[in-house]
Order: sequence, then C-alpha cells, then structure tokens
Amino acid sequence: MTAKWALNSIFLITLFFLGSCASEYINDGRQVCFDQEVFPLIISNCTQSGCHNSTDNVARLDYTSPEGILKSVRPGSYSNSKLYDAITAPFSPMPPKPFSRLTKDQITTISLWIEQGAHTKDTCMAEVCDTSFVSYNSSLTVIFQGACTGCHSGSNPQGGIDLNSYAGVKSTVTSGRILGSINHESGYVPMPQNGIKLSACKIAKIEKWVSQGALNN
Ligand code: HEC
Repeated sequence: MTAKWALNSIFLITLFFLGSCASEYINDGRQVCFDQEVFPLIISNCTQSGCHNSTDNVARLDYTSPEGILKSVRPGSYSNSKLYDAITAPFSPMPPKPFSRLTKDQITTISLWIEQGAHTKDTCMAEVCDTSFVSYNSSLTVIFQGACTGCHSGSNPQGGIDLNSYAGVKSTVTSGRILGSINHESGYVPMPQNGIKLSACKIAKIEKWVSQGALNN
C-alpha cells in the first residue's frame, strides 16, 4: 500500500515538473516582433551597467546589438540556445540578483522568437494603435515592464529612477524628465538606454496619460 502510494507520488511529481517545464514555452502562433518586443526586453534586463554591454562586456557578451544577441541563440531551437538556458536556469537564473528574473510571459516571448527563426528584421506587423482609453494600469505598466524596468526597478534603480511603481513614474513626470527622454529630445538622456526608441504608439499612450494628469488609474 505504502509502495503504491510512493509510486503514485513520484508519478505526480514527475508530471508536475514536466508540466512546469513545458509551460515555459507556449506556441500560441503569435508572430513575435523583434524590434518592439524582444530587443527592448533584452536591452532592459541584460545590458544595464555592469552587465552585457559594450563597455562591461561581462562573459564577453554584448547584447546591445542584434548580432551580439544572436551569438547566444540557435535559431529555430530555443532549448538549444544559451540565452534560453540562462533565463530559465533553475538555480541562479539570469539576470542575477538583485534583479528580478523574467516573467513567464517574457520567457515565452523570447522562446517564440527563437523558435520562429530568431529573425531580427521585418518581424513586426503594423501596430494597431488604440489610444482612445489610456490608463496607468492597463496601458503604461506593460510598456515600462517591456522596455524599462530591467534597469529602473529594485533597491538601486539606474539613474535613481524607479519605473516599477506608480510613485516612481509619477515623480519622473513631476521632474519633467520622462517625455523628453523617450522622445530623444536634446538636453535629455535618450531612453531606453542602449536601445531603440519606443514605437510612436507607445509614446502616444504615455503622452496622453501625462496630459490627462498622470493619474493612478
Ligand atoms: C539599459 C538600462 C536602461 C534602460 C533599458 C532604460 N534606462 Fe532610463 N536610465 C538608465 C540610466 C543609466 C540613466 C541615468 C543616465 C544618466 O544620468 O546619464 C537613466 C535615466 C533615465 C531618465 C532621466 C533622463 C534625463 O534626461 O534626466 C529617464 C526619464 C529614464 N531613464 C526613463 C526611462 C524609460 C521610460 C525607459 C524605458 C522606455 C528607460 N529609461 C530604459 C538606464 C536605462
């Protein structure tokens, strides 16, 4: 009886682990856009000061260009790609502490991109831009998490700016630094650092939210 129970438990535990591995990558048939999804995620989470950029070049990896990222990728096979291994490692995954590990959705985005051939050009469909209703929780957090919070969160955010909380974002609006930096205006440090400009649609959403009073909505 006990032996049977033990066998059943092992079976269930195995299923659980198989299930949790498989769910890291979900083939939902979505075409992943390198410029606006994958590249900003990698820039934000891997190229901050002291990490994989052209100056620090930690582990001889510079992820500030598509070519640099492709050195850790086997197109068509996420499970044979060092980039995937690093972000999903069961112990000490990248980015290392105190940075947060990538979310399941972010890992899925990167895996899908690799599985779809790791193309870096012409992967983006025309963006459907709806700015009729814009709010902090429904529109802005997803933009910041996709392109900014790898650098701008935690106990020691870059530039002293935390974009992972409403209070932090609001104080950047109050200081008047955010719109100039995302629009790459002179007199501001262009953001995202190391990366390409946010899409016109994302900028329009942030501008609209600011113009409506930057509410915690
Ligand atoms: C790779 C890391 C990194 C990423 C990604 C990044 N930032 Fe920054 N950010 C920095 C650093 C470092 C500074 C401080 C720069 C300085 O003072 O020279 C900074 C400064 C800023 C500033 C102040 C700029 C100024 O001119 O005063 C703003 C605003 C800002 N970031 C917003 C953003 C936003 C919004 C995003 C995402 C769209 C973003 N950042 C993505 C690293 C990053």
